[in-house]
Amino acid sequence: MLKINSERLWHTLMDLAKIGATEKGGVRRLTLSDEDRRGRDQFVAWCRQAGLAVEVDGIGNIFGRRAGTDADALPVAVGSHLDSQPSGGKFDGAYGVMAGLEIVRALNDAGVKTRAPLEVVSWTNEEGSRFVPTLMGSGVYAGVFSLDKILEEKDVDGISVREALNQTGYAGKAKPHKLGAYFEAHIEQGPVLEQTKTTIGVVQGALGQRWFDVAITGQDSHAGPTPMETRKDALLAASRLVLEVNRIGTGFPDYARGTVGFMQVKPNSRNVVPGEVQMTVDLRNAKDGTLSAMTSELKKKILEIEKETRTAIAAREVVYFPPSEFTPDLVASVREGSKAFGYTHRDMVSGAAHDAVYMARIAPTAMVFVPCEGGISHNEIENARAEDLAAGCNVLLHAVLARAGTA
Ligand code: GLV
Ligand code: MN
Ligand code: MN
Repeated sequence: MLKINSERLWHTLMDLAKIGATEKGGVRRLTLSDEDRRGRDQFVAWCRQAGLAVEVDGIGNIFGRRAGTDADALPVAVGSHLDSQPSGGKFDGAYGVMAGLEIVRALNDAGVKTRAPLEVVSWTNEEGSRFVPTLMGSGVYAGVFSLDKILEEKDVDGISVREALNQTGYAGKAKPHKLGAYFEAHIEQGPVLEQTKTTIGVVQGALGQRWFDVAITGQDSHAGPTPMETRKDALLAASRLVLEVNRIGTGFPDYARGTVGFMQVKPNSRNVVPGEVQMTVDLRNAKDGTLSAMTSELKKKILEIEKETRTAIAAREVVYFPPSEFTPDLVASVREGSKAFGYTHRDMVSGAAHDAVYMARIAPTAMVFVPCEGGISHNEIENARAEDLAAGCNVLLHAVLARAGTA
């Protein structure tokens, strides 16, 4: 059975990780930053070396295309993202894109032609860290977001997506085209595969998510003369809200998660009662009804906290997608691939968002997970074993060939 080149996949990932490398072994390649641009340039150069025709669309998604023998067949795409969290790891996203590239290289080496064309894709701003919403590039591609609106989204410094695309040279002209299938390989980003000594996660779908930007308005006042009972302390309100979000995450069923990951306190001075807080809330669940119930609970708690703390709390929903299910026959081919190579495997649900969530709305879609060390991700110390990454890429190769057919 045809296999990918494990060493080449590993070395390519390590070479890519030099771009935006951080002290503790991770990467910082925020969407459309100079580091992201350099990562993109490197990917494009590797695509061209592998004989791929490269196109970029209006939101900066990059497509490297390998022709098939049937010009009318819809392309089979493989991809993920090259942007990272502010203190991200070497594998989140990068693995899925480099796995696609490795599949092409392995097919080139073996002289194998596929019937359907293949495409290796890098989606813009999967992380949603510098620019919101998350899954931005795949969302525009899938028609979930309008390109014109998304181009106006700004980062915290007021730089728009449009400006950042122009600055990096990745505002392309390619239009979305129909895809025959979409596959994405990713590290699990959680502990299940490692703890159960399983090599391959056969992903059934992903948790739904609701993200909120929360603005709390109180009143700046002097830390000494202002009595405790008359204060309008925005940070106190925020702290209560953090606890409630944690309670919601732990108190609801169906893989409930609740996280506050961002907070800005103003004026942030030790002897001023804080008058303003900006924060985020991230709620997730495997069932849309439970996700709605979590949201209702959040809103109820916000009203209570406003009253108790004499503050005003505005919560604006900035991301919503329901739990997603991947395509059964493609999921089955991932399972078949695991069996064919003799890898241990298990069905699982993704707690993280992936571009596959939006791609599943417009094309048959499946994902392959591999273990990561300690289940740690969104962290510079994120790590994975070369043999597991290779195993995931072999399964991906098998599933891609089953779909694309060989000439
Ligand atoms: C993507 O990284 C997510 O937040 O799930
Ligand atoms: Mn990712
Ligand atoms: Mn991520």
